[in-house]
Amino acid sequence: MNVGFIGLGLMGQPMATNVLKAGFSLIVYNRTPEKVKALVALGARPAGSPMALGEDSEIVITMVSDHEALWEVILGPQGALIGAKPGTIFIDMSTVPPDVSCSVASEVSKAGCHMLDAPVMGSVGAAVKGELTILVGGDQAVLQKAEPVLRTMGKALYHVGGNGGACFLKLALNAIGLTQIEILGETLLLTERAGLKRDQVLEILSAIGLIRSPFVETRLEKIRKQEYLPPTFTVRNAVKDLTYGLKAAEKTGLKLETAKSVLDRYRSLMAEGKGQHDVAAATSLG
Ligand SMILES: NC(=O)c1ccc[n+]([C@@H]2O[C@H](COP(=O)([O-])OP(=O)(O)OC[C@H]3O[C@@H](n4cnc5c(N)ncnc54)[C@H](OP(=O)(O)O)[C@@H]3O)[C@@H](O)[C@H]2O)c1
Repeated sequence: MNVGFIGLGLMGQPMATNVLKAGFSLIVYNRTPEKVKALVALGARPAGSPMALGEDSEIVITMVSDHEALWEVILGPQGALIGAKPGTIFIDMSTVPPDVSCSVASEVSKAGCHMLDAPVMGSVGAAVKGELTILVGGDQAVLQKAEPVLRTMGKALYHVGGNGGACFLKLALNAIGLTQIEILGETLLLTERAGLKRDQVLEILSAIGLIRSPFVETRLEKIRKQEYLPPTFTVRNAVKDLTYGLKAAEKTGLKLETAKSVLDRYRSLMAEGKGQHDVAAATSLG
């Protein structure tokens, strides 16, 4: 089966590598062409455009930054849908708003193709190990066909409903990890004001099972050293995800005050020019 993969960023690169290593024939496209080199060296074929990739793929996976990028690579003038044969399965694994995902799915369906939203929980470490948690929205029969490919990237896979459902859940769950980082920042500021040592506070925190956070622990070294580059999950993407999440919540009539205050914190980091820093930067307050 020919699998096309669009978007070889921090996450896409290791995810596509796992698809290739599992034995699928892989075609890759990335807007910045240099990023295809590592996968081509492993045996993937490069495509000159999403459209060219679509012509040759039975499954097209996208892992791009945001809703604009998704629209561009699937529905743009050089988009993968233009080249796709009827029956092609599109799987978007990016974090995008549910309504945009549903609009893309509707256009894909008009062309006789299928779409799943399959955003992931877990960061670069889990992506490298093929241990992402994959949330899937869309038709169960389509998922059955795509499942062998998805299983190369994640061990846990949950079908949560129709198109857009997985995007919604992803945004709701994402806010939890980002809030944990933010509240740890307040804790560290508070304990430092009391003259307590940052290293020891972090050590004790890790030892207390009751309030440990795996999301925080994958970043403990960064937080201890207060060095937030290179990132595994950027402040820019945190702002994007929280903004999408709050908009999705508003459409249901909810105002999420905690998520809003966490978003303000990440926005202020962006304003300080730290958009490319890891989200752990939110622990350096004061
Ligand atoms: N990092 C994480 O821990 C994590 C975890 C779960 C989910 N996610 C989600 O996964 C997605 C990718 O995240 P990432 O961390 O891999 O981000 P990233 O490293 O910034 O990669 C983004 C990718 O999107 C491409 N792109 C952006 N705008 C584009 C456009 N207009 N046209 C075509 N391609 C475009 C980029 O191409 P260039 O190389 O040319 O810039 C790059 O390949 C995001 O939706 C993110 O929220 C991330």
